[in-house]
Amino acid sequence: MSKVAIVTGGSRGIGAAISVALKAAGYTVAANYAGNDEAAGKFTAETGIKTYKWSVADYDACVAGIAQVEADLGPVAVLVNNAGITRDGMFHKMTPQMWGEVINTNLTGLFNMTNPVWSGMRERKFGRVINISSINGQKGQAGQVNYSAAKAGDLGFTKALAQEGARAGITVNAICPGYIGTDMVKAIDEKVLNERIIPQIPVGRLGEPEEIARAVVFLAADDAGFITGSTISANGGQYFS
Ligand SMILES: NC(=O)c1ccc[n+]([C@@H]2O[C@H](COP(=O)([O-])OP(=O)(O)OC[C@H]3O[C@@H](n4cnc5c(N)ncnc54)[C@H](OP(=O)(O)O)[C@@H]3O)[C@@H](O)[C@H]2O)c1
Repeated sequence: MSKVAIVTGGSRGIGAAISVALKAAGYTVAANYAGNDEAAGKFTAETGIKTYKWSVADYDACVAGIAQVEADLGPVAVLVNNAGITRDGMFHKMTPQMWGEVINTNLTGLFNMTNPVWSGMRERKFGRVINISSINGQKGQAGQVNYSAAKAGDLGFTKALAQEGARAGITVNAICPGYIGTDMVKAIDEKVLNERIIPQIPVGRLGEPEEIARAVVFLAADDAGFITGSTISANGGQYFS
């Protein structure tokens, strides 16, 4: 029987590419999303991948959502914590709400999703947790103190939990994408993108969502069991940590 993978934020952008790549690699995939029913419906129609709506920022909703996925598809072997948001602004203009929304989704979301699947993975002596952090969690980014703090937190989460999972056959790894051509990046002013961001990327272009997805498939594999607590940078050479 094929292994079950949950991809949070799996119906759009990088997450959609991850869902499709995992399905192509033989997994039964559940793609979670927050609220964009139209995008989720279109995604399911095009790919045949089931979508499930709940917020990763809500612990009880995660417990209920995961229980539904497990009832429908079977125990979760692979969890990809991909859901993420931005609420950008310079720090002197950052509100507690902008801070809270980003921390609750991008950092606490990892706890909310991983905690409910952890015991099952331990019992079954197998699990793969793959966290999508960011280049801006590695290097910091002006205008993104909230986002950089959350994404750096994701890396600490990864390294600590990897040590706990190792003896139970569970690996926990992170991927730090650079700038990838999704809705999140299209929201950046085009002039800023073309004149300030792309010139800083040595390969001279934005990354493709599929270029992140292939790293996820690599880390999810049964024979990737010796790789844990690691961070893969996929950023076109923009930053080496
Ligand atoms: N794009 C980049 O350049 C880049 C670079 C580095 C890291 N990343 C990280 O990569 C991940 C994916 O980014 P992306 O560019 O693909 O984003 P995106 O195109 O904006 O898509 C975000 C996805 O996350 C879902 N989502 C948002 N909040 C959620 C919540 N509370 N609960 C469940 N799902 C939620 C969205 O659901 P709806 O469709 O319902 O809104 C959507 O499916 C994020 O963690 C992001 O921080 C992106």
